[in-house]
Amino acid sequence: MSAPMETSAQVEQPDDNQALLAVKNLKTHFPVRGALSQDSAVKAVDGVSFEVAPGEVFGLVGESGSGKSTLGRTLVNLIGATSGELVYRGIDLTRQTERTMQPLRRELSVIFQDPNASLNPAMTIADGVGHPLRIHGLAKTRDEMRREVAVMLERVGLSPPESFLDRYPDELSGGQKQRLVIARALITRPRLVIADEPVAALDMSVRARVLELMLELKAELNLTYILITHDLATARFMCDRMGILYLGKAVEQGESKQLFDNPKHPYTRALLDAIPLPEAGRRGREKTLPRGEIPDAVRPPAGCRFHPRCARAFEVCGWEGHDLIEAIEARWTDIDAELRNDEQRLLGRLTNAQVQREYVRFACPDAEGLEQWLRDIGPSLPSRVFTGISEIRAEKDGLTVLFRAAPEPSMQDVSGRHVACHLHGVRALDDGDHVGEQDWTALAREWPPVNEGD
Ligand SMILES: Nc1ncnc2c1ncn2[C@@H]1O[C@H](COP(=O)(O)OP(=O)(O)O)[C@@H](O)[C@H]1O
Ligand code: SF4
Ligand SMILES: [Mg+2]
Repeated sequence: MSAPMETSAQVEQPDDNQALLAVKNLKTHFPVRGALSQDSAVKAVDGVSFEVAPGEVFGLVGESGSGKSTLGRTLVNLIGATSGELVYRGIDLTRQTERTMQPLRRELSVIFQDPNASLNPAMTIADGVGHPLRIHGLAKTRDEMRREVAVMLERVGLSPPESFLDRYPDELSGGQKQRLVIARALITRPRLVIADEPVAALDMSVRARVLELMLELKAELNLTYILITHDLATARFMCDRMGILYLGKAVEQGESKQLFDNPKHPYTRALLDAIPLPEAGRRGREKTLPRGEIPDAVRPPAGCRFHPRCARAFEVCGWEGHDLIEAIEARWTDIDAELRNDEQRLLGRLTNAQVQREYVRFACPDAEGLEQWLRDIGPSLPSRVFTGISEIRAEKDGLTVLFRAAPEPSMQDVSGRHVACHLHGVRALDDGDHVGEQDWTALAREWPPVNEGD
């Protein structure tokens, strides 16, 4: 039996009166192989929303591991979204089949970081760059393909194109190869280009030229870019607007100039402060990102995911049992051996403590002595975990330390951009939690914007 005829009603028609791309609460989780519990997954992208207007350069910025590449690949359906919407010209890409996706694919292109990964070394430049034309049936003959490739090579500055067509990618320099990758990405005349760290693999000396080329091509070919980068200088140079990602979540989104001149999220600020400066400190002194690695995306920190590294973290930011153990361990690397031995005797082995999000229970005979010790040293622990403790209960055979409720900060409008941070207003907490009595807006006011001195 033959397949039913496709009617035009079955294939959605693009609607150009909308944002070119609207991403709504997008999640991409990778199941953890061999995990005992079914809901164990790497939450690489965990609820991201943004819109991209035609013709703009939108940046996705964050440290390595923040989920940028996974998000980029999900946007063009190279990786299936776990949930959420991905609306391109009015069509939700997450609901397309391979067949209905096919005509849209030529409009969505990716420039990958590593030229060696996207160029087949065994194909000539004509065949490699022209390959997408064949896949999409855009060149009927080999000559037509070679002509199209030559036009594109000229456009990306590989001139005269005839001298490149029959060579192999490995005969070219790093900068030239990346131009080839760009030519390959643009050969189908896409509308939206996702560029994943397009210059990170290149020498500093050629980066600016490749970025300038990308901006020229954007103007000539009416492109829209989503630029993925960990490099703030690249983001500042290229992007009209951007979203700052941390552990799969957007923490601040808005116009680049606003974010750079006056960041409102502590993580944005930390990233900016970590930019090495050629001249003597823009802000007077050299800075580094706050202590700590990016935590595990399988079990992200409770509450605000940035809280273990945040210099501004306070009572409701998500302190949990694990943070107390880490802070005590960090203290022990800092104090003298005699004092450490005394404290270790009082506390017993930290590995014997029961550690949960909501509490830590230390089994020890002298619970009252332990409580007194914790109250004494708590405020001077290397993190502000002590502020997150809601109750300390001494019992006859141990001490239980309880932590406050930990709401995730939600995105809010703050001075013309979106920010997810409790400094800008705390979501209502559960009844019975005394945290709500505080004046959080006063705390937010205490924080000086970056351009008003530091
Ligand atoms: N295919 C995969 N399977 C499992 N985990 C993955 C996979 N790809 C990426 N990850 C994990 O997802 C998180 C985000 O990775 P990635 O998107 O590459 O971040 P970025 O590009 O910002 O460095 C990391 O914890 C990474 O280890
Ligand atoms: S909510 Fe804001 S202040 Fe609290 S840890 Fe997160 S970024 Fe820092
Ligand atoms: Mg990446």
